[in-house]
Amino acid sequence: IKKIGVLTSGGDAPGMNAAIRAVVRAAIFNGCEAYGIYDGYEGLIEGNIVRMHSHDVSNIIQRGGTILKTARSEEFRTPEGRTKAYEKMQELGIDALVVIGGDGTFSGARLFCQEHNVHIVGIPGTIDNDLYGTDYTIGYDTAVNTVVDAVDKIRDTASAHNRLFFIEVMGRDAGFIALRSAVATGAEAVLVPEIETDLNDLDRYLEHDYKPHKSSGIVIVAEGDKSGGAYTIADQIAKKHPEYDVRVTVLGHIQRGGSPSAFDRVTASTLGVAAVDALLDDQTSIMVGIMNKDIVHVPFNKAIKNSKPLNHNLLDITEVLSI
Ligand code: F6P
Repeated sequence: IKKIGVLTSGGDAPGMNAAIRAVVRAAIFNGCEAYGIYDGYEGLIEGNIVRMHSHDVSNIIQRGGTILKTARSEEFRTPEGRTKAYEKMQELGIDALVVIGGDGTFSGARLFCQEHNVHIVGIPGTIDNDLYGTDYTIGYDTAVNTVVDAVDKIRDTASAHNRLFFIEVMGRDAGFIALRSAVATGAEAVLVPEIETDLNDLDRYLEHDYKPHKSSGIVIVAEGDKSGGAYTIADQIAKKHPEYDVRVTVLGHIQRGGSPSAFDRVTASTLGVAAVDALLDDQTSIMVGIMNKDIVHVPFNKAIKNSKPLNHNLLDITEVLSI
């Protein structure tokens, strides 16, 4: 392997730049040429690709977003699109790819490997942390810290006004951000998509534990929660209990931006180097991840198809500590 291309795809996540930097520099360190592919798979199809030298990735480890931009390519979902991408790789002599993204990114990469026998290694990059086979995905730690910072501020005003806040955080299909930030902010309750929400349970908690002892509170709701999101739940609770002064905040895309935490920078740097090592070791169709502090290689198939379990201990902790 002599020419390695790197791209970011799907939703951006803080730390993607640190991962790009690591891939580019590890490739060059190992005697390869590095190529930056803009706009995800779209740029691969279009040939929006530039040679990257070490200095091209200077001063980006601390920046959020992705210098390579990102996209969700419709064309790459089709066999024809993937053939075009393969032809472009052939034309430029790029013989391996590192793709940074989430399950959508890896699903495309898996098909691409199957159909065209290309060498691809994935790096988990999504704030949602919902990839099986790795304890952490790049961006998750920063996003949780952003949520914690915001919730702490909301806590101040909630307490000043004796209000009950429902705060919606990202996580289309997963409650990792919600759960971790709930523990870190001392939230009164947390609602996640992995567990069916019983509003009667929430109601019971509010009546028996919250109302008699507390004058303000925070309920964290993952956006993918099946009961319809923070507004819907808050509405139902407010209708049933006009005595609660209810407010809703949806944190939204603020969670996707910002300078990556030290943890995300180190994870991104570690996985960037590991991805290049894996390619040079002739591995393909795998994601590099970190499990119990060790680097692991997880077939795309497994990373995509299995769902990562929530830490139930953290759920129990939320309950124990919210009395
Ligand atoms: O990056 C994943 C995610 O943060 C989800 O939790 C969320 O639903 C989604 O991105 C929203 O992304 P977009 O606005 O880019 O479609």
